[in-house]
Amino acid sequence: MFKKEVYIDRRNRLRNEMSTGLALILGNDEAAYNYPANTYHFRQDSDFLYFFGLDHPGFSGIVDIDNNKDYIFANDVDIEDIIWMGPQPTVKNQAALVGVENSLPYTELASFIKSQQSDGRTIHFLPPYRGDRLVQINQLWGADVSKIKENASTELVNAVVKLRSIKDEYEITEIEKAIDIAYDMHVTAMKMAKEGVVEREISGTMEGISLAQGGPVSFPIILTINGQTLHNHFHGNTLTKGRMMIADAGAETTMHYSSDITRTVPVGGKFSPRQKEIYEIVLDANVKAIEAIRPGIKYREIHLLACKVIAEGLKKIGLMKGDMDAAVKAGAHALFMPHGLGHMMGLDVHDMEGLGENNVGYDEKTKRATQFGTAYLRLARELQAGFVITVEPGCYFIPELIDQWKSKGTNSEFINFDKVETYKDFGGVRIEDDVLVTESGNRVLGKPIPKTVAEIEAITAE
Ligand code: GLY
Ligand code: MN
Repeated sequence: MFKKEVYIDRRNRLRNEMSTGLALILGNDEAAYNYPANTYHFRQDSDFLYFFGLDHPGFSGIVDIDNNKDYIFANDVDIEDIIWMGPQPTVKNQAALVGVENSLPYTELASFIKSQQSDGRTIHFLPPYRGDRLVQINQLWGADVSKIKENASTELVNAVVKLRSIKDEYEITEIEKAIDIAYDMHVTAMKMAKEGVVEREISGTMEGISLAQGGPVSFPIILTINGQTLHNHFHGNTLTKGRMMIADAGAETTMHYSSDITRTVPVGGKFSPRQKEIYEIVLDANVKAIEAIRPGIKYREIHLLACKVIAEGLKKIGLMKGDMDAAVKAGAHALFMPHGLGHMMGLDVHDMEGLGENNVGYDEKTKRATQFGTAYLRLARELQAGFVITVEPGCYFIPELIDQWKSKGTNSEFINFDKVETYKDFGGVRIEDDVLVTESGNRVLGKPIPKTVAEIEAITAE
């Protein structure tokens, strides 16, 4: 955990952002996996980690906006817990580590909230993303479960997004640690990408590296020779010559900051001429998008710039035709890149997405588009110094989408369907880096991970 002043400062800044009332930040509980005592790996709620830092189940926090007081509610362990878990520090001692003086048993949280409510005070809470939180909120003050999400506090959501969007130096150091773990994961995967290896041998090894150096992976690993399926979590294919392997994977540090890196490599170490052509186009989009990152520019603009680079590249090799500005305006590129360029990253790999994608990636000046492809941007709004974002252009040949567009004649003035047909067995390429927006532009975070054709061919040949 960071030093206690970091958490005190974050809670004070939250107080400054809010008008009045109390902000209730619920931590997570254990969640049953296949029977009650066999739980999923415990993951603390990221907002609770951000403001209260304590990484244990059963903790909740309150920031009193009007009275400069913070509270932790949690139960001390009893002798039965100690027999199974070993001795644990008291809640009071743990609260002191993050600068909270008021610690009370969890059993007093409901009466505390009810007494504040009867004094006419507002309890602000965040939209729950786990079912047990709905039950918990219902039990705390009798809230109608069907209305809890819509009654979450917009003021608190906006304040949290504002604070968590700007990463401080301690957070950036943690994120870079997570990327350096991802370096080892990806370089190992590249060396393992040989004919005859089963995908899960590689994804399992990557997961082990994450666990050995920090925490679990930051999201279920995407590793596949079928990269045309964007979030492909099936790891049962055997690597065959002629395919490429996409590995989209990151780690969490012990403090739960994440990384998210994608690399695409040819099975056996050598790109075919056709693979190299598409790879270079995506790499160009990745590099040019990164170059364009600076405060004040909308991320949607950078997304569209990357799409234009991809469209121009595809035109050069005969897959697209016509005016590429018009093609991108019409959304024709989305046949090949039907996803957004990237997202915020921090304590969550899709940072703060539990607070609502529109609340994080959009604002008053930037509303979500409705066009296929451009509508899927998780982040579209203006960038600010301190944002950490992913840059992940891709180019995919999705047979079902090609068939659908071809049969409907969608964007046929910009797409050479006959040639695209011949790429239906290609798969996909994605290249993803994690980037800090700085006052003067940007900085690609972490140790550089092999990315050019030459670098990748050198490492996969090892
Ligand atoms: N790396 C997976 C994603 O960003 O959705
Ligand atoms: Mn990503």
